[in-house]
Amino acid sequence: MLLLGDVFPNFSANTTEGEINFHDWIGEEWAILFSHPSDFTPVCTTELARVLNLLPQFNERNVKVIGLSCDSVSSHKEWCKDIKHYAGLNEDEKFPYPIIEDKDRKIANLLCMIDKDELDNSGIPLTARAVFIIDSNKKFRLSLLYPATTGRNFDEILRVIDSLQLTDKAKVATPVDWKIGDDCMVLPTIPEDQLIKVYPQGVNIIPLPSGKNYLRKTSCPKV
Ligand code: BEZ
Repeated sequence: MLLLGDVFPNFSANTTEGEINFHDWIGEEWAILFSHPSDFTPVCTTELARVLNLLPQFNERNVKVIGLSCDSVSSHKEWCKDIKHYAGLNEDEKFPYPIIEDKDRKIANLLCMIDKDELDNSGIPLTARAVFIIDSNKKFRLSLLYPATTGRNFDEILRVIDSLQLTDKAKVATPVDWKIGDDCMVLPTIPEDQLIKVYPQGVNIIPLPSGKNYLRKTSCPKV
């Protein structure tokens, strides 16, 4: 089982942009890998189009994106025309990120992305909707696993990347529904006598019925 912080499994794959070695493809950047049950399906088409429209936001954060679907590269390339159309792109524009071919579900099995309740026409289980975030050290930082019938929210993936990249650099955690710039939480491991040193910008301790001073907020650090 893959644990947070493990090195993400490496693999070779054929993609719409040719053969890749996954770790080499990530290079020095962060990456998201998101999988799809199959080509020419409605929910998947909306998701890939959304990622296409959000690409500038992923680029700003140094995050590369790569999709995976259980069909062939030639099928992916045909499907890309529909995705570009749905996303409002010109049909002559190059599809801007690769999609992995996984006809035999080799990669889906390696990464435990199979949905045993969703079968293709020959009765083989389809790939689920997984998202993996991998950092520039090739470490596995987050996974989401959705059933085939539920589309993902890629704004949430960007929000998580903001939190991961911030909390890698600053001694804070991010609370519910946090967005970049919002107040952050002081780490529970920082003792009271260290607060001024670690958070010179100030700390607001929220009074609670328990009388315990653990709910401590500080402004979002600039990193
Ligand atoms: C879809 O992408 O729309 C989809 C794919 C497989 C099962 C259900 C929905």
